[in-house]
Amino acid sequence: MIYFDNSATTKAEKEIIDTFVTVNEKYWANPASIHEFGHHTNELLQSARAQVAEVLKTTKEKIYFTSGGTESNNLAIFGLVNKYKLRGNHVLISEIEHPSVLEAAKMLQLQGLDVEYIPVNKDGIVSIEDVNLLLRNDTVLVSVMHVNNEIGAIQPINEIASIIKAKSRAVFHMDAVQSFGKTLVNFEEQHVDAITISSHKIHGLKGSGLLALKNTIEIDPILYGGGQEYGIRSGTTPVPLAVCTAKAIRLANSHVEQHAARLKSMTDDIIFFLKTFASIKIISPEIRAPHIVSFAVRGVKGEVIINALQKEDVIVSTSSACSSRQTKTSHVLKAIHIEDDYIKGVVRLSFSYMNTIEEVEHFKKIFTKVISVIKGD
Ligand SMILES: Cc1ncc(COP(=O)(O)O)c(C=O)c1O
Repeated sequence: MIYFDNSATTKAEKEIIDTFVTVNEKYWANPASIHEFGHHTNELLQSARAQVAEVLKTTKEKIYFTSGGTESNNLAIFGLVNKYKLRGNHVLISEIEHPSVLEAAKMLQLQGLDVEYIPVNKDGIVSIEDVNLLLRNDTVLVSVMHVNNEIGAIQPINEIASIIKAKSRAVFHMDAVQSFGKTLVNFEEQHVDAITISSHKIHGLKGSGLLALKNTIEIDPILYGGGQEYGIRSGTTPVPLAVCTAKAIRLANSHVEQHAARLKSMTDDIIFFLKTFASIKIISPEIRAPHIVSFAVRGVKGEVIINALQKEDVIVSTSSACSSRQTKTSHVLKAIHIEDDYIKGVVRLSFSYMNTIEEVEHFKKIFTKVISVIKGD
């Protein structure tokens, strides 16, 4: 099988699965227990937290292990708005955020907050001028994703951060679920206040991830209970998942530049190949994340291509895993004004370091065959 759906999820690293088993077998105490077994388990948890803090360049007290990207985004949106509510009532998010930010923001709106959406251009990129125009004295939170999961657009995070800091007291959250491991992400590279990471997108385990804050930022919890994770995320911390998250983060970060260069050369090659078909439009922008190629075939439904490729053991997806089982048009494709001829036909190929040049070559052969059958050439 050739698997080009890594933005939906990645295959867990063998080393990480082994770690999960070992930690479950040897460190299954509750890390909050005061006996020695609990103490040893807690030491392991704290060392995982410290490792993540070192990679992200913050302190370990600002790392909160969660159940993944969705929870971290919800925690950021509700927790930061609540913490800093005295600063104002206005929230800004980009119009192409993941549903875990968009839907949380809609809920804020229902609670009476003033939520506004930063538009994107045809490449899916927000303009600094728009951010400048929309920012207000009472803006409390801005949330902009680093890399878009459907088309791979990269946002000018540092420019956005500069204008936020110059003009307002808003806290800046960045969803780095699709960028971590593909480009450098940390509080020194990105001048943001909060970062969301999901483990299963970086060869870790599903149902795990984290929210990290810059040293100076505080947050309110959204889950109340026993006060674990410094009171920010109650519930017995799943130590095996936290340790595996730390491992996935360390592994992904240690090879990031090398992997990004390889991914870029594979996806450049695929784009060059796809451009040889007159009926194909490349949807991903020129400046894009190295692992995502989104394209559409004129007048052909995306699922027809996906099913035909699947019969040949090539796994790809529609524009996003979240919307791929829904019939409604993706909000991202609408926001970048894809023409009607193409909008139903968007296919996303997404890569990881586990893919090879040989797979790319095989894909080209299969795709040529599949397209000629579909189009009846
Ligand atoms: C950009 C982005 N944010 C958040 C999420 C949600 O992450 P999780 O699946 O860990 O809840 C995803 C998952 O597709 C994503 O692509």
